Amino acid sequence: MESYLDFYRKKTPLSETLFQRARKVMPGGISHNIHYFPPYPILIKDATGSKLIDVDGNEYIDLWMGNYTHLLGHRPQIITQAIETQLRKGIHWGALFEEQIEWAELIQELIPSAEMVRFCCSGTEATMYAVRVARAFTGRKTILKIAGGWHGANSDLTVGIKTPYEKEESLGLLPELQLYTKTIPFNDIDGTLRIIDQNKKDLAAIILEPVIAEGGFSPAAPEYLKMLRSETERLGAILIFDEVISGFRVALGGAQKRFGIIPDLTTLGKIAGGGMPVGVIAGKKEILIQTSPELKKEKGNRILIGGGTFSAHPLTVTSGLAMLRFLKENANVVYPTLERAGEKLRRSLQEIFDQEGLGAAVTGFASLYQVHFPFKKGLELHSPHHIHQFTDIERREVEFRIRMLNHGVHVMHGGGGLSFAHSDEDIKRIIEATKEVSKEMAKS
Ligand SMILES: Cc1ncc(COP(=O)(O)O)c(C=O)c1O
Repeated sequence: MESYLDFYRKKTPLSETLFQRARKVMPGGISHNIHYFPPYPILIKDATGSKLIDVDGNEYIDLWMGNYTHLLGHRPQIITQAIETQLRKGIHWGALFEEQIEWAELIQELIPSAEMVRFCCSGTEATMYAVRVARAFTGRKTILKIAGGWHGANSDLTVGIKTPYEKEESLGLLPELQLYTKTIPFNDIDGTLRIIDQNKKDLAAIILEPVIAEGGFSPAAPEYLKMLRSETERLGAILIFDEVISGFRVALGGAQKRFGIIPDLTTLGKIAGGGMPVGVIAGKKEILIQTSPELKKEKGNRILIGGGTFSAHPLTVTSGLAMLRFLKENANVVYPTLERAGEKLRRSLQEIFDQEGLGAAVTGFASLYQVHFPFKKGLELHSPHHIHQFTDIERREVEFRIRMLNHGVHVMHGGGGLSFAHSDEDIKRIIEATKEVSKEMAKS
């Protein structure tokens, strides 16, 4: 009988050929590790709305949506028009312009903590600067991050990502990093309080995603967030919410608006740029004003954000502005629609897994979800620690992913992020594909 890998190979021969070419010129054939999976990834040639087309002409319902960026689907008209208009005026100016101010003002209006805003090119840069600003503002060194949390590949936060969290994440990182960036367990109040207490004298900041991706898009418990807010206030440390994924997605004002906890600094990315490269550091004026060149601080006595050749690139600004304007004007339709679709999908998929006896579990929040293959029944799955240790990640990332591709659905971490472009018909097809895959996997 034909295996799922044989089927995949037959369906995607040109992707395989092109990937062999890619491997000769780029290590592993890719430019973001997540783009690789064995035996080879599909290569994309086109995308519209909720669909991707690969180089072999196969169509997929996309749930990765440009790394969770395309909240309105692939290349919505409002974004392409904004970019086209800007292209006629110029590509990159390397200078201030009016739309940039309006984009910053919109973020200030929508994100509760955003008294001031600074743009850069990626989430990785935004979290790097947030950490630097927090250390400089407090005059302390220690950063606490969630064990298993991902904030991009900057050195300060490339600590405690994969299990065992104590081991260095990469060759080439200074071992001393771990002295100043330490991990806390997500949603574990007592465990976190213990570590806060051990570091209270030197605590510069606590950074976390209020809806944590590596934890299966699990939301932080309200008591956990309240505790982090009050402890950072008590100790004079900075609370940073990394809302690179959750910002403008779980609510127009991000998770901070939805959960009613306002951090000191917020990092944003993805949706904020409407599909163009972006990072944002937003937060309290008294903190961010310290990065202003108007202060004319002496070397050794200033907080440096930037260069950034492409920071607030005009194409990013116009596309981000178009995205945020649309979301603001249509929030009362967009967010309830996404919420309903997310809930329906999670409920339906869990029912299917239970019916087929696959033992898979669905986690998620708002329009986000993931699928997991726990080693045993009844295990809790609401933190990175649970998912990294108690589930078969390889099964999810290879077998489940390829089987779903074979049935025309492009998933990431077993699921993904819905967009406003996903129709009821798309949801139905995702459910049907998952049912077929569950039957196959239960048999195999
Ligand atoms: C929560 C979070 N923070 C930061 C980053 C880094 O953003 P970027 O990939 O734009 O550098 C990511 C990327 O996925 C992320 O999910």
